[in-house]
Amino acid sequence: MRAALIPEPGRPPVVADREPPEPGPGEVLVEVLAAPITPLDVLCASGRSYFGVPRTPYVPGVQGVGTLDGRTVWFPTPAGMAPGDGSMAAVACVPEADLVPLPAGVDPVRLAALGLSAVAAHRALLSTGGLRPGETVIVLGAGGVVGQVAVQLARLAGAARVVAGARSAAARERASAAGADAVVALDTDDVAELAGRFTEAAGGPAHLVLDPLYGVPAAAAAQALGPGGRLVNLGSSAGDTFPVDSSTLRSRSLRVLGYTNNALTREERAESVAHLAGQELTVAHETVPLADAGAAWERQAAGAAQGRIVLVV
Ligand SMILES: NC(=O)c1ccc[n+]([C@@H]2O[C@H](COP(=O)([O-])OP(=O)(O)OC[C@H]3O[C@@H](n4cnc5c(N)ncnc54)[C@H](OP(=O)(O)O)[C@@H]3O)[C@@H](O)[C@H]2O)c1
Repeated sequence: MRAALIPEPGRPPVVADREPPEPGPGEVLVEVLAAPITPLDVLCASGRSYFGVPRTPYVPGVQGVGTLDGRTVWFPTPAGMAPGDGSMAAVACVPEADLVPLPAGVDPVRLAALGLSAVAAHRALLSTGGLRPGETVIVLGAGGVVGQVAVQLARLAGAARVVAGARSAAARERASAAGADAVVALDTDDVAELAGRFTEAAGGPAHLVLDPLYGVPAAAAAQALGPGGRLVNLGSSAGDTFPVDSSTLRSRSLRVLGYTNNALTREERAESVAHLAGQELTVAHETVPLADAGAAWERQAAGAAQGRIVLVV
């Protein structure tokens, strides 16, 4: 079968032929239709993730959409986080219990583009963040998949106002297309300047910040929160630390919360995927043939992708 293979940590995948996997007890072979290249895939393959250096060669891809016995399914894999192969191949070997059946007629590419980033947006916003109708939400990194989905889900959940923060002009356009009421440009490292922009865009104290960035944007958005405000962090694209002063936290009794998909049970993850598959959610994405996985991977790693790259098999 054709498969993308990471030859060694930090190198892009090379597409080659390899023997199809042999299913073990409780496992099934899924014929892959679509597999996204996500920040997590690139991070795990780099060897710099908190999962450690992956054993190589391996097939990357922590998720995909495929078919089993004529049914369309979504599936996760631990590729790059634990020994074993992932979704960027013609066939993936998956524990049957991990499969999530998708509704008939679902677009496999759209679902693959949403994937675990949409699951994170869903859970971080509604479960960890406890979003309630009528609240004002600030979504950072709103041009990314987590952000675009969070903006749409916040709207669907009845948020009164959704303010997006995004870096590039293209990312700001994606945030706007997702339905943000206002979009703040993340084009300065001046926390006070950025905090002023968020406060003005929110038009009053915000209740919740959804934060895949950390660093300066998160510190600035925290200053726009009102009493009892919550900030949910799920990534660190803008920094490993968060320059927030004690008085900002104490004066408004703010709550800073962490989120990871890895803490979800299999059932919670499946419930989110099934829920999201039934919603009219879209994110910017493009399709690339599996044969061109190497070049597509390098674009994602360089931050040059304009939306989620989905490999089609
Ligand atoms: N905790 C979890 O379970 C979980 C789950 C899914 C994702 N995540 C994390 O959440 C983050 C976003 O994921 P995603 O799927 O949305 O990624 P994505 O679709 O690749 O989007 C990333 C977005 O982040 C923006 N960005 C990158 N570096 C930035 C910086 N220094 N300052 C401001 N914006 C920056 C990019 O802006 P430009 O377009 O301007 O380049 C891009 O729009 C990643 O770190 C990912 O690992 C965590």
